Amino acid sequence: MPNLTRRDCMPQNVSLSTPLVKFRRGEKAAIEIGLPFVSAMMQSVSGEKMAVALSDLGGVSFIYCSQTIEDQAKMVASIKKQGAIVGAGVNTRDYEQRIWALVNAGVDVLCIDSSDGFSEWQSDVIAFVRKNFGDKVKIGAGNVVEAEGFRYLADAGADFVKVGIGGGSICITREQKGIGRGQASALIEVVAARDEYFAKTGVYIPLCSDGGIVTAKDIIIALAMGADFVMLGRYLARYEESASEKVVVDGKEFKEYWGEGSARAQNWQRYDSGGTSGMKFVEGVDSYIPYGGKIADGLGVTVAKIKSTMCNCGSLDLPSFTRDARLVVVSDASLKEGGAHNLIERAR
Ligand code: IMP
Repeated sequence: MPNLTRRDCMPQNVSLSTPLVKFRRGEKAAIEIGLPFVSAMMQSVSGEKMAVALSDLGGVSFIYCSQTIEDQAKMVASIKKQGAIVGAGVNTRDYEQRIWALVNAGVDVLCIDSSDGFSEWQSDVIAFVRKNFGDKVKIGAGNVVEAEGFRYLADAGADFVKVGIGGGSICITREQKGIGRGQASALIEVVAARDEYFAKTGVYIPLCSDGGIVTAKDIIIALAMGADFVMLGRYLARYEESASEKVVVDGKEFKEYWGEGSARAQNWQRYDSGGTSGMKFVEGVDSYIPYGGKIADGLGVTVAKIKSTMCNCGSLDLPSFTRDARLVVVSDASLKEGGAHNLIERAR
């Protein structure tokens, strides 16, 4: 809902900068980004071109870890040569060698890549980073969907926490395994836990809303609910700069987009992905999405929409937007009347 729009509430006065890693009350985060967007740790999204383009625009990419340590470190080193900030995903298996290689390649920030982050393995990975690098190497953890999981990772020392299980566009985790939670419900609970943790300890741990972002409006709602930044898969995969191929089907242009839990993504692995059961199954699909052109154009429009809404809400920066935004539950009738209706649309 709108708040009072003051005369100074103009898009050119709006800042979208946001903390990427935790900080103490009254201090500044060691890494801040100019736009609250990070790209998903996925083979079809975050390669060299995406990382450089997104960094130029103010966001940051997390290079996927579903590739050999050598290949991932090479990618990071090459991105660092182009004067860009870059993140990288790590897993909870080969992390000791992988983290050393990524740090030596100059990575700016790490993130543990898992659909379920409420695990002792994640705590082990964070402990490894602290033991070897102290606070110099920053590492995010996740994903969680409720307060206890957040507190576990916060106490383990995570620099940021990712929220969301099962909401990704390519994701069939909930359908296959019955685990996960609606994104808004997850975010509301974890944001409350984060704020409580901040009040108690004076340590602010940024939250990343991961999965299910379709349009600019979804980003706006996630930020209004209290996310500090969002992780984008499908949303970025459609752009020219994503790591996947452009294909033409029936004269229309598409980009390929596949989940990290799909058979296609898992093919790179040297080890059995069957976990304790020894049986393999997939948690993601392989798909086509309509081609979206250049990232600078697409993201420019999204940024304009976010800034415009923030002006509607009387907010010139993200912390005040999150603090002041008022959200209400919408009905089916409201959703219907919110689009063009009862006419034949000719153009827009
Ligand atoms: P999207 O932005 O809705 O496309 O969702 C992207 C997010 O989905 C990623 O950041 C991951 O958290 C998650 N994800 C990626 N691959 C898979 C998969 O194969 N199965 C389930 N979730 C996935």
